Formats: sequence, structure tokens, C-alpha cells
Amino acid sequence: MVIAIDGPAGSGKSTTAKYVAENLGFIHINTGAMYRGIALKCISEDINLADTSKMNHMLHLTVFKFGGGDGSELYMDGKNISSNINTVEVTESVSLISAIPMVRKKLVEYQREMANGIDVVLEGRDIGSVVFPDADYKFFLIADIHERARRRQKEMEERCEVISLSELTVELEERDRQDSTREHSPLKKADDAVEIDTTGLSIEEQVNRIVEIVTNTNRSKTRK
Ligand code: DC
Repeated sequence: MVIAIDGPAGSGKSTTAKYVAENLGFIHINTGAMYRGIALKCISEDINLADTSKMNHMLHLTVFKFGGGDGSELYMDGKNISSNINTVEVTESVSLISAIPMVRKKLVEYQREMANGIDVVLEGRDIGSVVFPDADYKFFLIADIHERARRRQKEMEERCEVISLSELTVELEERDRQDSTREHSPLKKADDAVEIDTTGLSIEEQVNRIVEIVTNTNRSKTRK
């Protein structure tokens, strides 16, 4: 079974997807982390984004694997990169890199392969619209921009990074703009996705809403 959770940055996707997967005993795949991994590689190997043959070669050689106790650690080419993919540098370049068709094609193929035949919660921007248009369940999370900036600030504070709410608001708005106006697979709610506004919700409430919908409709499907 595939559960797709999409939405803009800071809407609560990662935490919600993690706990929904834990609750249902599913695997969790954070596709944003994979785009961040490619951005990290472009930065650290100083790859010119316009050099299509170098980009193609790099994409071809890149191997991803989720691991660690709860599967939330991302390994790229055998190395745990989880603590390197949330830097300001990666965040600033990831929207640009994730708009490149070659990058999207490779990662979408990868995501489909990783999810093949298993019960999985995938989160990202285009899961319900492009990666798995036939997903069993689709959710689209949204939240007020100030709340999203506040959440991002809290996450960064936990990593001892300091940034003002106004700077974060500008950064999130810019990323939303780039992610939703790009030509290929823009951030967009699938017509059949259930929209959940997480602004006033606790993590537990967000998770419960999704788990209830999945378990209730699944029960009534099995009863038929
Ligand atoms: O969820 P996140 O903020 O870590 O995602 C990082 C970037 O990756 C985001 O700005 C857009 C891109 N992304 C994407 O284009 N498609 C996805 N399925 C997931 C993320």
C-alpha cells in the first residue's frame, strides 16, 4: 500500500509521515532528503549544473538507502548524510537542483523502485501527482506561513542554528515560489488528495487524522 503525503516546506510532512509510518508499521521514505542529497553532492563535488554529461554520470552512480533504527537516516553512496543535508547552503540550492528534469527523472525512478511491493509512506512535493498517481491514499498538508517559519526556526534551534523569523519567512516563500512554478512536476495538490491544514494542530492530531482515514476506509474496503 502507498500513502502519499505532499505539501510545502514546514507544513509538517516529515514528522507526520514518520509517525504515520511508525503507527501503521510501514516504511517511511523522505523524498526531499534525496533531492537534498543530490544538492549536497553538486556542492561538494563542485558540479556545474549546466554540464549535463557530468550531471548524468553523477546521477547514474548515486546510490541511496534509508537505514538506522527507525529507517530515518539517509545513506548516499554508503555514507550517512542525514546531518549534512539541512545546511543553509543545501537548502538554498535544493529548489534549483530539484527543478532539473534529469534529476527528477532519476529520483522518481528510484522512489518507485524503493517503494515497489511494500507498505510505504512517501512524502514530498509530487508523490500523489507524479510518482504514485494511483497511490492508495493521498494527503496534502498546508499551514500558515508564519507557523511554518516558526516550526523551521524551532528545528534549527535544536541544531544550534540561529535565524530570524522574518528571514525564514522570506526563505520559505521563495522556496514555495520556485517549487510551485517550476515546469516539471511542480508542487501541486492532486485533485483526489485530502487537504489537511496543520496550522492549529498538534503532531499527534495530524497523525491521528491520517491514521483514522486509512484504517477506517481500509476496514470498510475489506468488509465489502
Ligand atoms: O521537503 P524538503 O524541504 O526537505 O525538500 C527539499 C526540496 O526538494 C524542496 O524545496 C523541493 C524538492 N522536492 C521535490 O522537488 N520533490 C519532492 N518529491 C521532494 C522534495
